[in-house]
Amino acid sequence: MTGQWTSRSRAKITALGTYVPQKVLSNDDLEKLVDTSNEWIVQRTGVRERRIAADDEFTSDLCIKAIEDMLRRYPISLHDVDLILVASITPDHTFPSVASIIQDHFDIPATAALDISAACAGFVSALQLADGMITSGMHKKVLVLGGETLSKVTDYSDRSTCILFGDGAGAVLVEHANDGAFIRSSSVTCGKAGIHLYRSGLSPRIANQPIAANGYIVQNGKEVFKLAVNTLVREIPALLNASGHALADVDWFVPHSANLRIVEAVCEKLHFPFERTLFSAEYYGNTSSASIPLAIRMGLDRGAIRQGDTLLLAGFGGGFVYASTLLRWTV
Ligand code: COA
Repeated sequence: MTGQWTSRSRAKITALGTYVPQKVLSNDDLEKLVDTSNEWIVQRTGVRERRIAADDEFTSDLCIKAIEDMLRRYPISLHDVDLILVASITPDHTFPSVASIIQDHFDIPATAALDISAACAGFVSALQLADGMITSGMHKKVLVLGGETLSKVTDYSDRSTCILFGDGAGAVLVEHANDGAFIRSSSVTCGKAGIHLYRSGLSPRIANQPIAANGYIVQNGKEVFKLAVNTLVREIPALLNASGHALADVDWFVPHSANLRIVEAVCEKLHFPFERTLFSAEYYGNTSSASIPLAIRMGLDRGAIRQGDTLLLAGFGGGFVYASTLLRWTV
């Protein structure tokens, strides 16, 4: 499946909030759990620390705190939100959805609420849906979240995965606006590659091949690395060409923060200056659908992103799925 469109957007982001749990899991801590070293992890992934949710803290709790952060920072109301979209591969339950829990917590009176599953492309996919729903006239005010408690599905005896993942959440409000800020979006899926990165659910097979049905994240790191780099290097120029933009027009490239080496390889192949990327995994690890809002928050906090900047967001991950959006920053 592949798709690309210009939305003549009638939507823009009006607020951003984030949250990460208190507990820090450092590379030194991991050295005590598995046969690894700080040097190896930093050199191969760029990750130094990750945040870990408490035993009784779940994805909805992190998302609620990200929304509270957003409410503290911006003069907004959730009362008239008419769609809640939560991107997560670690929802509290299969159902009820995290979105339903959020509706109840904030007592939002008249809203649709649904979770979407697009792994590390989840946040960008949810943004694309929000833009599409608002631009079509179906919804006016959409609360979009990316939230994960990946530590709960990480095998801390598997050194090839436990070094990567962490927990966190990000929230944005997307509202109707005549000066819409979503420039162009694209998405592409390679279902054949699903076997390379998965967490088992009800079936013990993917594409007729047996899988480790242990409920933990399983990955073929080398294959995922190649898929990620090749997809980004192919799809980003295609999106930019189709929108009439060049890489030089992008103020900030915000790829999913999976692994610093993936981002470096993509920048090198595209001849894009690495200094104009935002990356959240150094201190938060790979937080899947939360990684892009966390990176944007870091960019805002250090005064890097300014209103009117052009951002290129690109999510990719288990599926294998990819979703990217070029937008004007309006917060
Ligand atoms: N510490 C020390 N050694 C480790 C290790 C660790 N945490 N994990 C693996 N190794 C070892 C392997 O056992 C192997 O040893 P060997 O040569 O004796 O067999 C060696 O390091 C190389 O392993 P390999 O798997 O080839 O490493 P790599 O360079 O591919 O790095 C990843 C592994 C996971 C860091 C890398 O493949 C990666 O980042 N892939 C992408 C993962 C990702 O981003 N996933 C999420 C996408 S959304």
